Amino acid sequence: MATLPIFEKLWEDYISLNPEALKIYRLLSDQHEKVLNDHVAFRTFNLPGIGLSTLAKHFIELGYSEKNDYIFKEKKLYAKHYEHLDINQPKVFISELELDKVSPFIRTTIEKVFENFDYSKASSPEFLCSGATWKRSYQTYEALYKESEYAAWTYAYGFRANHFTVNVNQLKKFSDLPKLNNFIKTNGFQLNQSGGEIKGTPEEMLEQSSTMAKDVAIEFEDGTHKIPACYYEFAKRYPMNDGKLYQGFIAKSADKIFESTNKT
Ligand code: NI
Repeated sequence: MATLPIFEKLWEDYISLNPEALKIYRLLSDQHEKVLNDHVAFRTFNLPGIGLSTLAKHFIELGYSEKNDYIFKEKKLYAKHYEHLDINQPKVFISELELDKVSPFIRTTIEKVFENFDYSKASSPEFLCSGATWKRSYQTYEALYKESEYAAWTYAYGFRANHFTVNVNQLKKFSDLPKLNNFIKTNGFQLNQSGGEIKGTPEEMLEQSSTMAKDVAIEFEDGTHKIPACYYEFAKRYPMNDGKLYQGFIAKSADKIFESTNKT
């Protein structure tokens, strides 16, 4: 089965905001590599009507089912991953900021953002790449960023793919993650070094690396400012005892991958 059309839409939105990801995709394609997606990730807030389960519903309708869940205590995040019966479809990783655990400032700011939100939009699959449709100020972005990079990013960019992920196992020349990382760096891209360039080990059955998100100019109400957009991730999976590749995620690694949208 070809990739579901929703991922084409998400990819178009993602590369229009992050031409860097398209450059890496093309660099690999020029090396005769077939670039497949391991997973696509989303960020949201745990408010009724726009939370993790609201986003997930669209994938469940496409044949996905819920697998594992993950807790990020320090970042106050909760996440779940979803898999399709057709293993050629990318996995979906959705996280949400737990507003009941953050400061009153973040909670009230985000609640206010969604006070007048048109929740009916969330029932359409287009919601998944609808972006930020609310009024945004740079002052609020900066104040959120001080406490939670995740809150600030989601406030600025809204609903869209936060990152796509190259399925490293499917690469021929670059199926070794250190080799791929060197190729990416040699071509002028910066990789996330938080927790080491490669997060995870073969023993944990998942190794991941990612670019640092490039700054993009966003038109806020109080002026245009450059802030980090999305990143591109690389994931290599290892077989479990039954010989099948591990399909889950490692919270400790994902925790560091989240920092790919930190300011550099
Ligand atoms: Ni990821």
